[in-house]
Amino acid sequence: MKIGRNDPCWCGSGKKYKQCHEMFDNKIETIRRQGHIVPSHDLIKTPEQIAKIKESAVINRACLDAVAEAIHVGMNTKEIDDIVYDVTTKMGGIPAPLNYEGFPYSVCTSVNDQVCHGFPSKDVILRDGDIINVDCSTILNGYYSDSSRMFLIGDVAPEVRKLVEVTKECCDLGLEQVKPWGFLGDMAEAVHTHAEKNGYTVVREIGGHGVGLEFHEEPWVGYLSNRGEDMLMVPGMMFTIEPMVNMGTQQIYTDQENGWEVYTLDGMPSAQWEYQVLVTEDGVEKISW
Ligand code: MF3
Ligand code: CO
Repeated sequence: MKIGRNDPCWCGSGKKYKQCHEMFDNKIETIRRQGHIVPSHDLIKTPEQIAKIKESAVINRACLDAVAEAIHVGMNTKEIDDIVYDVTTKMGGIPAPLNYEGFPYSVCTSVNDQVCHGFPSKDVILRDGDIINVDCSTILNGYYSDSSRMFLIGDVAPEVRKLVEVTKECCDLGLEQVKPWGFLGDMAEAVHTHAEKNGYTVVREIGGHGVGLEFHEEPWVGYLSNRGEDMLMVPGMMFTIEPMVNMGTQQIYTDQENGWEVYTLDGMPSAQWEYQVLVTEDGVEKISW
């Protein structure tokens, strides 16, 4: 169905299509014809939606700030779950993981060789030298935010600390590549090149995702592709940069008992940071981290 030039624009601005997104759509169509994957209109957030998602992200960041304040040697990871539940609900939000496809907690806590989706537990007590990813996601008024951070517990071995730092650098280098009319592969190349340069591997099967109106939207965001590959980035798109970087093999397995918790196959540590980003008219904005 082709939209008339004098019809209202699909973006909801109220402006005529020819005075709003017509040139934008033509540009995308040209790039599609060159053989690229391009985003559909429903991946482009309106200014109103962006404002709502940012309100959700205020809670998400507050949760991770509260965890950062409280985390310490001897703490169990169920206490982290309680902090996230309390901060989220007191601020009027809902923890997005809770009951998501059967996930039984408010947050994912993944320690050492756990790659992602770790279950908070009274029995998982943080020990001196551990590393942990706390992955927090919030729903506020139906809008989603999602980000995660690593925490070093006590005195972490230098080589493990380096894994955590390099993984953060991967995200920052990826972030620098996010701009309109570039490709997700530009970001992915920056991520995996930096990880590999440091002797690490990047998990292949699990990636980032579009986010905002749903917890997980298109596109799926991998970190193994290269410049010019994967989906075109345009203003209004929102997605996560969340590579899982392993010290040893890239291979992983999922706990068969609970179907969620993911571990490295070789038992070596894995690190992950997650940024929620918005592609803007002239670059990128970090929404949650
Ligand atoms: N927060 C995770 C992500 O970054 C999703 C976890 S799904 C859950 O995409 F159910 F475990 F929360
Ligand atoms: Co995510």
